[in-house]
Amino acid sequence: MPMLPASLPSKTQRTAGVATATSEDEAQRALTRFNRDRLAPGLGEEADPQTRAAHRQALAYERQFLTLARTTIAPLLEDVPLKADSFIAWFERLQLNGPGQNDPLFPWLAEHATLEQMRWFLAQEVAGEAGFDDLVAMTQVKMPVRAKLEMARNYWDEMGRGEAKGMHGPMLEELAAHFEITPAIETTVPEALALGNMMMALATNRAFAFHSVGALGVIELTAPGRAAYVSRGLNRLGVPKKQSHYFALHAILDVKHSAAWNAEVLAPLVREDNRRALALAEGALLRLWCGKQCFDRYRHRFGLTGGAVH
Ligand SMILES: [Fe+2]
Ligand SMILES: [Fe+2]
Repeated sequence: MPMLPASLPSKTQRTAGVATATSEDEAQRALTRFNRDRLAPGLGEEADPQTRAAHRQALAYERQFLTLARTTIAPLLEDVPLKADSFIAWFERLQLNGPGQNDPLFPWLAEHATLEQMRWFLAQEVAGEAGFDDLVAMTQVKMPVRAKLEMARNYWDEMGRGEAKGMHGPMLEELAAHFEITPAIETTVPEALALGNMMMALATNRAFAFHSVGALGVIELTAPGRAAYVSRGLNRLGVPKKQSHYFALHAILDVKHSAAWNAEVLAPLVREDNRRALALAEGALLRLWCGKQCFDRYRHRFGLTGGAVH
């Protein structure tokens, strides 16, 4: 895979001519609020003109954010294979060479983070979590049958196979409650919000449906490694198994989810129409790139030097 440019433009440079760094952070916060509002089940109420204007602004920023991120990762798309088998091999290699992979943050969380540092890390992750179950549900709309069925099986696992105690979302909430974390947009770093906003942008805009499929697939591919480190850290810090189960579970289950996603979703979609390969790849890279921005920011916060291997 071609590397990203050695030095990515700094945040301020990246936003030059569009917005200052501070207003970009504020725009991510506004987009997070908008996403929360637009997905909240309603009663048919009419939004007032001020709210409608804020929503239009948030959507305009969403498009701007997406365009900028696509431009940034474009060099990584040069060698995406269009044949299903080689595409899957390329996709699986993202686990090793994708943006943000092998980040030293995670071994550090496993071995060295204090309880307070772990708490801060989890607070960011919880606030940036867009809800894998809802993302899958939105993404599967009108997808071909074979892909749809695997997405349904994945969703059913997210739903604890019909048992509330096995649902993944509430499991994460239980861990957050143990750490007395109340997710708050204002105290979350914008990179973590941007990660959730990116997933939401792909899942809610049908023009990016295949990007969303790629982004969800790359989460399944790369989550187990990170989850295993976080799980080790939580054990070391004495967090009870019942409360830390979310990470222990994903360290194992997502290996199976990833294999099934690649075989039943990605490969058949590309085989049916190989133009999808590029969209799937781009979605995956957008997700990894947003993750990398988070890891960089977290390491900076913890005073860790050195970046990811790639
Ligand atoms: Fe899950
Ligand atoms: Fe999963």
